[in-house]
Amino acid sequence: MLKQSWLSRTPHIVAFVVLPLLSLGAAAGAEPPDNAGNPLAAEFFGAQEQKVTDEALTNARQVAINGKGATWSCASCHGENGAGNSTAPRIAGLAPGYITKQLHDYRSGARQNANMEYVVAELSDKQMLALGQYYSRLESHSSAGPDLGGDISRGRQLAQQGDWKVEVPACFSCHGSTGWGVGQAFPALAAQHPSYTAVQLSNWKSGRRSNSPVKLMHGVAVTLSDDDIRAVADYLATLPPPQQGTDRNAHAAN
Ligand code: HEC
Ligand code: HEC
Repeated sequence: MLKQSWLSRTPHIVAFVVLPLLSLGAAAGAEPPDNAGNPLAAEFFGAQEQKVTDEALTNARQVAINGKGATWSCASCHGENGAGNSTAPRIAGLAPGYITKQLHDYRSGARQNANMEYVVAELSDKQMLALGQYYSRLESHSSAGPDLGGDISRGRQLAQQGDWKVEVPACFSCHGSTGWGVGQAFPALAAQHPSYTAVQLSNWKSGRRSNSPVKLMHGVAVTLSDDDIRAVADYLATLPPPQQGTDRNAHAAN
């Protein structure tokens, strides 16, 4: 596990050291995947470059909107355009490699959630790849807003600067200066529903979610108090969602 004190003192170094490391792993196509055990998940982070046929994309759209066989439609929970709601997260506009990796993680058990484990059980690798591309291209307005009673200005401070006094690194040093994500490994957080963001942070803190590459998010989450979790989750919900054509490979802010 990364030491928190190291993380907090050098958030910008994290962005510049860890990011190139992750993208190198992806470029080299390194490490064969073994699901939970593959820390850099290089395979999935190359997803945006893998060609998906028009037929596979049409199939993904059908699964997304109507479901197929035992697979429930994604829209029935995530909303028609993937913008999410208070019970299922926004997935529109997330990077394709990130989405594909999460679907694999639910299937392998590396990430646990009863609904999603059931949903992915019958999806093939090809369908997961196509669903990642389908949702990454979907643009939709934000349906999120602050609703946890968090302190928005405290949330903004944590996201943009972090707080060295309590060893919290700036979220945007890894997640991009606008919270729209960086590359395939660092997901967009902007316009996410606060209840979802808060649950994920608590899950990392407790160790229930443990699928982030090299345990980066556990190291961050343990520095957050419950009030800070509410503050940052509410702040992120005030931001506009990622736009199509965003350069997710741009350098993170420091
Ligand atoms: C029965 C409701 C339900 C259905 C149907 C459903 N989801 Fe989900 N999905 C959820 C919930 C709830 C979560 C949050 C789970 C958690 O906390 O890990 C989630 C999480 C996800 C995530 C992780 C998001 C993130 O930001 O990490 C992805 C990706 C996803 N779903 C994609 C899909 C796709 C693709 C489909 C259709 C094939 C689908 N979901 C169908 C309820 C659903
Ligand atoms: C050192 C880099 C780093 C920093 C700093 C960081 N994160 Fe993350 N975060 C990650 C990575 C990597 C993931 C992807 C995890 C995965 O693949 O499952 C992630 C995922 C997340 C997710 C899950 C998104 C989703 O859709 O499920 C949330 C929420 C999150 N981070 C919130 C935060 C917040 C809030 C902060 C600041 C307090 C923060 N992060 C700081 C690296 C970082």
